[in-house]
Amino acid sequence: MTSKIDSIFQQRESDVRSYCRTFNRTFTHAKGSIIRDDGGREYIDFLAGCGSLNYGHNNPAMQRALLDHISGNGLTMALDFYTDAKAEFLKTFERIILKPRSMPHKLMMVGPTGTNAVEAAMKQARKATGRETIISFTNGFHGCSLGALAATGNQHHRGGAGTALSDVVRMPYQGYINNTEVELIEKLITDPSSGIEAPAAFLIETIQGEGGLNHVNKEWLQALAGLAKDVGALLIVDDVQAGCGRSGKFFSFDELGVMPDIITLAKSLSGYGLPMGMVLIKPEYDVLSPGEHNGTFRGNNLAFVTAKVALEVFWADDVFKAHLTRSEKYIRQRLNDMQRSLTGAQVKGRGLMQGIDVVDGELAKAVSVEAFKRGLIIETSGPQDQVLKILAPLTTPIEVLQKGLDILKQSLECCTTEQKKGAA
Ligand SMILES: Cc1ncc(COP(=O)(O)O)c(C=O)c1O
Repeated sequence: MTSKIDSIFQQRESDVRSYCRTFNRTFTHAKGSIIRDDGGREYIDFLAGCGSLNYGHNNPAMQRALLDHISGNGLTMALDFYTDAKAEFLKTFERIILKPRSMPHKLMMVGPTGTNAVEAAMKQARKATGRETIISFTNGFHGCSLGALAATGNQHHRGGAGTALSDVVRMPYQGYINNTEVELIEKLITDPSSGIEAPAAFLIETIQGEGGLNHVNKEWLQALAGLAKDVGALLIVDDVQAGCGRSGKFFSFDELGVMPDIITLAKSLSGYGLPMGMVLIKPEYDVLSPGEHNGTFRGNNLAFVTAKVALEVFWADDVFKAHLTRSEKYIRQRLNDMQRSLTGAQVKGRGLMQGIDVVDGELAKAVSVEAFKRGLIIETSGPQDQVLKILAPLTTPIEVLQKGLDILKQSLECCTTEQKKGAA
């Protein structure tokens, strides 16, 4: 039986829908790293809710806790009331994540999306410093609400604003101009005649998820953090996509020798794909007054329940951490092999957030389409959508990674052969 698309989607769902255009099947079930359509066909999921399912679909421990909470009439909606589920989450986050890193940060619950976490982070930084300008970076992606969109580089998304996107200045990310970017940024900020206002904050992804898997190294990020301190600006790390283990560690900056003033988390924070957004702030910058950044859904109690289980099951477990190291190496090795057989191709990213830049966006798109036909869901990213990005659940067994990477390799070979035939 093959999957048929219900015409209700074309008739009634807004044209803004996007992922479903490439992966145009009706999906019904999912477990771990596998997702199934209504025709019973299975796909290996290397997209994982765009990094929102780091522990895979329907993790049994989280599912059990969630069902127990619901059947016991635990609260689902509670605004930002004190609840047992929130207390348990906060205590667990403090014990497993904050204390071992000596992080003094407070946790701000925000509307349940990455873009809302970024909005809140920008507001806190602006109010704490009394400055307006936020510096963000080339190829950065921070969300589609207007404040976060102003910090996003991508023209396609910016074009949707239909209004001015203000008070953000873009600076070059590492690698944009021979790794001397921080020197240039320093010169521009300290030059009273450069026309650039003193910034409230630098807003940066340590690995650019949508921007094509560029990433910063330790020295570069430390130099930026030092500059931020010197000029009285805050360092905000947007860990919406690269956080919650995607980099191979819980935070993407864990081994980069910096401690950001503000950190944004969303996507995989709940662990189960339930919406949840949060901002971590050093107490001295937690300056918004009660309700100043409001939102009805600040604190999804179902997400608190599963997020707590995710922290306990995975982040207190050395076997999981060893699996991440092994998976990272395996993906790197397989991508290196693919890179060798494709002129100009480049392996990008780090941790469990790697991919291959095939130079040509049309080719990358064709590979994604071909891979889907062969049973693999994989998306593209980068300024020309030229990077095939692997966001497999962190829990994906090596045998499943192997199968998915085999499909990617075969799809790449198939599409490059077709491309050569077309050019001949
Ligand atoms: C780094 C980063 N920040 C913010 C966002 C926005 O998150 P959301 O789509 O949940 O609003 C994204 C989404 O991909 C992201 O990758």
